Amino acid sequence: MSEKVAKLTIGDETYEFPVLDGSVGPSVIDIRSLYAKTGLFTYDPGYTSTAACDSTITYIDGDKGELLYRGYPIDQLAEHSHYLEVCYLLLYGELPAPKELDLFENRVTRHTMVHEQVHNFFRGFRRDAHPMAVMTGVVGALAAFYHDSIDITDPVQRETASVRLVAKMPTIAAMAYKYSIGQPFVYPRNELTYAANFLYMCFSVPAEPYTVDPILARAMDRIFTLHADHEQNASTSTVRLAGSSDANPFACIAAGVACLWGPAHGGANEAALSMLRQIGTVDRIPEFVARAKDKNDPFRLMGFGHRVYKNYDPRAKVMQETAREVLGLLGVENNPTLQVAQELERIALSDPYFVERKLYPNVDFYSGIILDAMGFPTSMFTAIFALSRTVGWIAQWKEMIADPQKKIGRPRQLYAGAIARDYQDMGSR
Ligand code: CMC
Repeated sequence: MSEKVAKLTIGDETYEFPVLDGSVGPSVIDIRSLYAKTGLFTYDPGYTSTAACDSTITYIDGDKGELLYRGYPIDQLAEHSHYLEVCYLLLYGELPAPKELDLFENRVTRHTMVHEQVHNFFRGFRRDAHPMAVMTGVVGALAAFYHDSIDITDPVQRETASVRLVAKMPTIAAMAYKYSIGQPFVYPRNELTYAANFLYMCFSVPAEPYTVDPILARAMDRIFTLHADHEQNASTSTVRLAGSSDANPFACIAAGVACLWGPAHGGANEAALSMLRQIGTVDRIPEFVARAKDKNDPFRLMGFGHRVYKNYDPRAKVMQETAREVLGLLGVENNPTLQVAQELERIALSDPYFVERKLYPNVDFYSGIILDAMGFPTSMFTAIFALSRTVGWIAQWKEMIADPQKKIGRPRQLYAGAIARDYQDMGSR
């Protein structure tokens, strides 16, 4: 703990607030006593200067372009680890010993099926429903199917809910896909890896055998790993805020799914691919770059820019390599969308507008190209992001529930509306 204090002078009064240091990264001014001392609130819409919690899970250095899960760099994890090991790391804080990993994988694998009644629940949706709409509903509804894991005061139930969510999200996402194309739901296969099983549930049909390509399974696993957690982003903060009222874990994760859907957040992968397709050919890039720079045009380069990264998003680097690998394997390395993406990146990164604002490709810029090449429709992109991010949401939710300092999240406001006035009868209005 640092001895530093921050001094705030308002009129003739000066107030002192402690400065708290983390293990790395910016320190924070502890203003919890601000209102009691001064009668004032801080004002920070968009939380651009606010640390809403302390956490030991994920660290981002936006200037360096660094992302660490429990201290381990994302590129090392993407290269040497795999998604379930990363899940263990995020949930329990350390890399697992071989036996621990075995046990964890076994547990997750034994929870991959969903209650048979969930199939009927799915049938209530229109076939053309967006998979994210379906997932928001189904994940929230899990609380109605798994009563034995909604008591958040019981650590055993919290643990069961966590494992269930990690295990069932691929099944739910795959079911949302199958439902939308009118094919039968495919049950999980427990001899497959987490990523291979997801591809199997999405792309196999009961009528014939299906073998998952190990290179595609590896690429899928890497996409899951790269999306597994990302500090206190909008959906994670939503999960924490929902959880701060002691809502059950399934309800909290459903809130996260709903928030992730927005195009400024997880929905950007879908929007990025649509944009690349709309651009279509390399010669049209300058027109779109000009639109992105025009303040009178709402168009933005989707998959570009980030609130925290003011350098290349480290996930985008791995994603770009994976895109080349997957397209190479599928024999479509001359894919016009990839060519447009690479050229757009080159042009944008040398344009003063993007350079001055430190706008770099983010994780969503290349992920859509890979998912598209694998055969996923754009509507599934954010659903895949949601299934990958579930472990991060749960790890953050568990951390918050176990924190003795936990308080219900309750921001205040700068009120700018009408002051107290008397009700007027209809006749006098
Ligand atoms: N294209 C063109 N201009 C941009 C872009 C973009 N993609 N992103 C930011 N800017 C400009 C913006 O107009 C502003 O310019 P000025 O200072 O002249 O007004 C400046 O850069 C700062 O932008 P901001 O909107 O204040 O930045 P923010 O931190 O509030 O927004 C963001 C971050 C990710 C919402 C934004 O960059 C954006 O809309 N990007 C496109 C959507 C996207 O790719 N989202 C995925 C984010 S990563 C994955 C995830 O979080 O889910």
